[in-house]
Amino acid sequence: MAQPSPYTPGAVAREVPGRNRQLAAIEERLDLLATIGRLVPRIRVDHGPRGVGKTSLLRQVEQRAKAKDADTIWVTAGESSGLVPAIADGAERLVRRWPAKMKERVTEALSHLELKVTGGVPGVASIEAGWSAAGGRRRARGATREFEDLIVATTQASLDRKHSGLVILIDEVQAADPASLRTISYAWQHFQSERRDLPVALFAAGLPESVGVINAAVSNSERFAYRQLKDLTPDAAAVALANPARQLGVGWSADALDAAVRYAAGYPHTVQLIGENAWQHAGFPDSGATIKREHVEAAAADVEEDLRELFTARLSKVTRQVELDFVLAMARLGDGPVRRSTIAAEMGKPTDALGVPRSRLIGAGIITDSSHGYLEFTVPGFAAFVRDVHDLELVEED
Ligand SMILES: Nc1ncnc2c1ncn2[C@@H]1O[C@H](COP(=O)(O)OP(=O)(O)OP(=O)(O)O)[C@@H](O)[C@H]1O
Ligand SMILES: [Mg+2]
Repeated sequence: MAQPSPYTPGAVAREVPGRNRQLAAIEERLDLLATIGRLVPRIRVDHGPRGVGKTSLLRQVEQRAKAKDADTIWVTAGESSGLVPAIADGAERLVRRWPAKMKERVTEALSHLELKVTGGVPGVASIEAGWSAAGGRRRARGATREFEDLIVATTQASLDRKHSGLVILIDEVQAADPASLRTISYAWQHFQSERRDLPVALFAAGLPESVGVINAAVSNSERFAYRQLKDLTPDAAAVALANPARQLGVGWSADALDAAVRYAAGYPHTVQLIGENAWQHAGFPDSGATIKREHVEAAAADVEEDLRELFTARLSKVTRQVELDFVLAMARLGDGPVRRSTIAAEMGKPTDALGVPRSRLIGAGIITDSSHGYLEFTVPGFAAFVRDVHDLELVEED
């Protein structure tokens, strides 16, 4: 009886090894809400490059919130209607089946918010449209109170049902509209001074540019707590490979595991790909079987092909010459993080001329800020791919 692969390439991870530090901090915040019944005063934002595990982490937060009897609203930012209307939709769906008596105030708050946002014009569900029509900012503050009322009413209804409170989860927060981000941060600022006993929390995840997007939209960015989500350590990658197999009674030989961990280089997406392909090459093993080094080696060839497809698709997004030059210069400089000034020198340009291509490449998910003044390709192996395709030599270090 062949067993299907327990790995999850391209899907939410069931378990998130290597994220204990994040989860411990989140767990503590959730306890504040569920056990002590308090507001979680800061909005935590976990940010990192494509495929690093942001959605999987946020789904863990959702599960843990539910395990603590909280009600949850999950929203993916970037819908045309805006983030606040999307949260309102989520609240409406959440309370839909609750007894009328409990959801009365929520329904009322929803209609007030909708009126404010659309100005009573049916079909204009965009919060930005409602505001710009009324002259921007002043109106935005107006909608903040309606949004607050909705959150208060929903949280209260949750408590009435003997649940512990409300947890809102926002994925892809870099795509949120600025007006909604402002509304949310004002609301949290008011809660912080007026409603500290309101058991509500908001957690977000997004690409690295989330930080810039939020800071540009709000004036009180200290309401947000930014945390960078990084690649997995070798130990975490080993656990991510070994655990799902062990649960099916399948082992990994030590050298197979070493080879797979080395190959994945800490990138969660590659961890899942190599795991899945090794599982296939081991013949969808039954309980009692072992994944061996030769399975990993055969798998690596397949993953290579998958990754080349991914890389080709990404590289095809780089259409402007200056961006391509940027990528080529980075690839010539090696596989790890590269200093911004070194890239500029390699391109024969002043460092401050690179701001635009840099942010466009970050937006396209090709590169990411690794630490101050350093840039890095988002997926391990991309530099070698670019050198290969464009027939480039590594620049000798001096
Ligand atoms: N801690 C982890 N250990 C092992 N694999 C993981 C871990 N977290 C996520 N993954 C796997 O990595 C891949 C990417 O995960 P996920 O979709 O959560 O990332 P993401 O950062 O949200 O990506 P994107 O930016 O494309 O939305 C998935 O295949 C997932 O199963
Ligand atoms: Mg995601």
